[in-house]
Amino acid sequence: MKKYKIVLLSGDGIGPEISEVSKKVIKKLSKNHNFDIEIIEELFGGIAYEKYGSPAPDKTLDQCKKSDAVLLACVGDIKYDSLARELRPESGLLKLRSALNLFANIRPVKIRKSLLDASTLKKEIVEHVDLIVVRELIGGIYFGKPRGHITDTKIPKAFNTMVYDSAEIERITEIAIKIANQRNKKICSVDKSNVLEVSQLWRDTVLNITSKDKNISLSNMYVDNAAMQLVRDPGQFDVILTSNLFGDILSDLAAMLTGSIGMLPSASLNNDGPGVFEPVHGSAPDIAGKNIANPIAMLLSASMMLKIGLNEEEAAENLETAIDKVLSKGFRTADLADRSSEVLSCSEIGDKIMDEI
Ligand code: IPM
Ligand code: MG
Repeated sequence: MKKYKIVLLSGDGIGPEISEVSKKVIKKLSKNHNFDIEIIEELFGGIAYEKYGSPAPDKTLDQCKKSDAVLLACVGDIKYDSLARELRPESGLLKLRSALNLFANIRPVKIRKSLLDASTLKKEIVEHVDLIVVRELIGGIYFGKPRGHITDTKIPKAFNTMVYDSAEIERITEIAIKIANQRNKKICSVDKSNVLEVSQLWRDTVLNITSKDKNISLSNMYVDNAAMQLVRDPGQFDVILTSNLFGDILSDLAAMLTGSIGMLPSASLNNDGPGVFEPVHGSAPDIAGKNIANPIAMLLSASMMLKIGLNEEEAAENLETAIDKVLSKGFRTADLADRSSEVLSCSEIGDKIMDEI
């Protein structure tokens, strides 16, 4: 029997609730599909700061490095906003990404038929949405140096550096090419090369690498236009390739095409070693502990983990089909509710999904 070891980081806010559902679902899938999965739980985010004084303690990072995959719920709470930057939960997340060298963040945005009406956009606009955002994750302005505050000036100043070298752009482009080749072979690279030097290097490098693969059709878009096009005609996109900051912004925008950010999974990968699989949404402290959160983005992240991280394709498909069945029967969590649906709690919708597995 195949044996896997995964690390579960349930983090903050709604994290523990949606993790509980994910744990049950993964256990059932492992029984049904004949593999053994050990789930090691570690502290991460605000809760880890409370206990160990660090949002990403060494013990947690070590366990993650030794695992086959990491499933992460979400981190953060406004109560940590006043901490020094390096102690905040978000910094823990950046440290984890960097420690595991997760340079490629994959965020698929697909409309599920039963949720067509949940989008704030018209049905005709979102109907054909099936795109993937490929975001560079451990470079750019998030990590660029120098950065900091200047206090010896008349008025306070602060600055960050948006920097890429061509090798960083090349490796993320290779990932986008690989993904595009499994789909419609279209890559739209998003930058701001009309203003930024770093974006000009991005554009030139992407062109250079993609032109080596004759199957790929490449287009380029400025990021402001890309934001507009994602709302105007999102069906035009196949693979969107972009840098860390632009990808952060565009993936939230793209998430809303599906009706709720509670539906969007992601995978953060490198070329070898464990990936981190996590929902795109945050920790939603306002609804934490109420058992009303939507666990589906985390379940879809678990499905990506099974498929990409563990090669358990059938189990992943089983889970996705179960989710679709439950949604098509009209069951919804509060974030997706419409007049014809039956609103269930987080654990209740989890149980419905379990029944379909
Ligand atoms: C995301 C999040 C993170 C990011 C935050 C929480 C640091 O918004 O994964 O998109 O900006 O990358
Ligand atoms: Mg974000």
